[in-house]
Amino acid sequence: MVTAEKVFYYIKQRLFRKFLYRFGIGSPVGRGVWEEQFKNGAWDYLYSESESLHYKSIVKFYKQYGNGGSVLDAGCGQGVLFHYLKEDIKDPKNYLGFDISENAVAEARKTFPPFRFEQMDFNLNTPSEKFDVVIFNECVYYFKKPVEQLSAYLDQTLKPGGQVIISMFYFEEHAQLWKRYADKYNFLDWEEVTNENGQKWRICIFKP
Ligand SMILES: C[S@@+](CC[C@H](N)C(=O)[O-])C[C@H]1O[C@@H](n2cnc3c(N)ncnc32)[C@H](O)[C@@H]1O
Repeated sequence: MVTAEKVFYYIKQRLFRKFLYRFGIGSPVGRGVWEEQFKNGAWDYLYSESESLHYKSIVKFYKQYGNGGSVLDAGCGQGVLFHYLKEDIKDPKNYLGFDISENAVAEARKTFPPFRFEQMDFNLNTPSEKFDVVIFNECVYYFKKPVEQLSAYLDQTLKPGGQVIISMFYFEEHAQLWKRYADKYNFLDWEEVTNENGQKWRICIFKP
């Protein structure tokens, strides 16, 4: 089952890379694939030093513009972003991380008690509370339609006057998505960071 699912998502990803992104279509991946990857430790490397730059950039924007407000960490994985944010968020009421993978959030709960981590798929559900800052770190393209859906999602999850932080690893197809977001929103700030291996991320903050 999981092997068939993997083949399906591999073909879909190839199609996405070739054409689909041009039409504003995202590349959602099924829960089974994520559960297996987190079970096998495939994302543990996100804690490594070479991955740290974009996390630090998000924290910088949060501190500079977010005024210590509450945070929704969408697609939080094992809580790596929270590891970087925890000095600035002391009250568990001020943070909710959620991820499609129960394996990922179970690990996050174990690492960061008493902070809140829930299993949730942003293509299906939204949290029942609103936040001052909503962060999508390397996951916004897993929406089925990353531009239309983000806007509807923020209507339900962002407090009035709140900010959104998006970070994406550099892929050519993400440039299309960045253009759509830049056309739609006025960025308060943005930056690109490059690590010692030449891997690049772009991070932005905006008010919808
Ligand atoms: C590249 S990882 C980034 C993880 C995390 N943001 C971090 O900084 O460590 C992408 C994450 O998006 C999550 N994800 C993918 N599709 C999702 C969805 N539809 N709803 C919620 N989370 C999703 C995956 O499970 C994975 O944890």
